[in-house]
Amino acid sequence: MSFPHDPFRIGPVEVPNRLVMAPLHEITDQPFRKFIREIGGVGLTVSEMISSEALIRHAVKAERMMAATGEKPLSMQVSGGRPEALAEGARLCEAAGADLVDLNMGCPASNVTKGGAGSALLRDIRLAERCVTAMVKAVRVPVTVKMRAGWDASQKDRGEFLDFLRMFEAAGVQALAIHPRTRAQQYEGHADWCIIARAVEAGTSYPVIGNGDVNEAADAFRMVEETGCAAVMIGRGALYNPFLFRQILDPGFAVTTEMRIDATLRLFQILLDLLEPREALHKIKKIGAWFTKGVPGGHGFRQNLHAASDAQALLAAIDALRHQGAA
Ligand SMILES: Cc1cc2nc3c(=O)[nH]c(=O)nc-3n(C[C@H](O)[C@H](O)[C@H](O)COP(=O)(O)O)c2cc1C
Repeated sequence: MSFPHDPFRIGPVEVPNRLVMAPLHEITDQPFRKFIREIGGVGLTVSEMISSEALIRHAVKAERMMAATGEKPLSMQVSGGRPEALAEGARLCEAAGADLVDLNMGCPASNVTKGGAGSALLRDIRLAERCVTAMVKAVRVPVTVKMRAGWDASQKDRGEFLDFLRMFEAAGVQALAIHPRTRAQQYEGHADWCIIARAVEAGTSYPVIGNGDVNEAADAFRMVEETGCAAVMIGRGALYNPFLFRQILDPGFAVTTEMRIDATLRLFQILLDLLEPREALHKIKKIGAWFTKGVPGGHGFRQNLHAASDAQALLAAIDALRHQGAA
């Protein structure tokens, strides 16, 4: 295989290149995925984690998380700790147009793990097996898993993740993304890519997607070289630099200040188009300053952004930034 340009397959689904945008709760919603697809370079996008319990209650917020704007291929990620709820959640995602359904076995947040979901599944391989088996039986589209290296350092050191990998294979899982921090680490320390290499060495029939600490184009190449993973999944790196996928595909791809300001404006426009005004404003305040770190006038821009009370004020803040950048 040749990284990063060659397609790869997850069951029957072809992913056009080896770059995956990671699921990010309250970030990789429909507007953000539309934005990152427009910027280009990404082969596969994943929804934010959607609670299967909320889906089966038909909670409006969860149902909205399944909204998509025709991006292909699209994976929808469900979370939960009950096989029946996960099976129904997977069915609902498939009906909403998911090309793949992913099970979250990594979320470290205690409000998720205390219900037995996310990384808590790493503590009970039999329950995890019942969960993936129920999902595989429930849908025709491929089921995938995103996991951490273990619950804590001792579980990681015992290499228990390898038992999970074999279990996934027997249960019919068709791809695995691995973020090699433990639950106990949360987001501290570094992602131990040796775990990705060991997962690849296990020789599973499904592709292993590496994840964690890819912040620059060179990191992606190094991850593939050091681990042999089939594809690279990027989360936070793409928030600070949404052009990262393009830069991995084309090392000569240069990002100018103007491009970063244009990208910020475009994200604002998409959010304003697709969300209610209040929600759009909230989201823009949360994520709107990421792409302008280091841009001249960025500090004043962030202040204007936080003070903005409507869309007009947001657009004026961008205008002011553009003029400062050009000055
Ligand atoms: C704000 C935030 C939200 C996240 N939400 C999810 C999620 O919904 N589902 C999931 O599987 N992982 C989630 N993650 C984990 C990321 O997908 C990824 O595994 C992790 O950030 C490591 O990759 P990175 O170093 O490229 O960011 C989240 C991470 C962050 C920082």
